[in-house]
Amino acid sequence: MHNLYSRFNNLTALLSSCMMALLAAIALSSLVLTADPKGEVHITSVKVIPRKHASKKQDLAFVNFNITADLTPLFHWNTKQLFLTLEAEYTNTQGVKNEVVIWDRIVRRKEDAVVSVLGKNKYMFREVSASFKNVPPAHYALKYNVMPYVGALTYGEAGRTREPVAFPPRKSHV
Ligand SMILES: *[C@@H]1O[C@H](CO)[C@@H](O)[C@H](O)[C@H]1NC(C)=O
Repeated sequence: MHNLYSRFNNLTALLSSCMMALLAAIALSSLVLTADPKGEVHITSVKVIPRKHASKKQDLAFVNFNITADLTPLFHWNTKQLFLTLEAEYTNTQGVKNEVVIWDRIVRRKEDAVVSVLGKNKYMFREVSASFKNVPPAHYALKYNVMPYVGALTYGEAGRTREPVAFPPRKSHV
């Protein structure tokens, strides 16, 4: 009886170490299976408009973009989904570096991993100091986050604007 019990114990210990080793191997393979997808980010227009009906005066930026990227190389057997973001990167007049997410998308299937979007910012894009006046031009970058079934998240960048894009002068109320 005792013998049977200890054998069972040994067997479970062995199985759980095998399981751990397998999970570790899967997680490690994701680090090795790194792809470097390439894409393009073009900003077609930027407008700065004062926010209406706000208690505090604040400028809002409206950005139109054209992003294209083939992210299929990021899909392998340990890829659950991708999280894509388009981020505006700029340093404001106080010298603070900002990375503002203006658009995002979740890609769940390899079939949807060829991204081609003519769009505009999905999230409100404003400057904490209330104005984009004198803010130096911004870069826009398409970033991805790979969520695996097992293991750690990996991050990367699929494209960015070649030249920084200026914030135009604010348009008055229409
Ligand atoms: C969007 O960008 C792609 C790749 O740079 C280009 O081929 C396409 O013509 C652009 N579309 C528009 C409408 O500008």
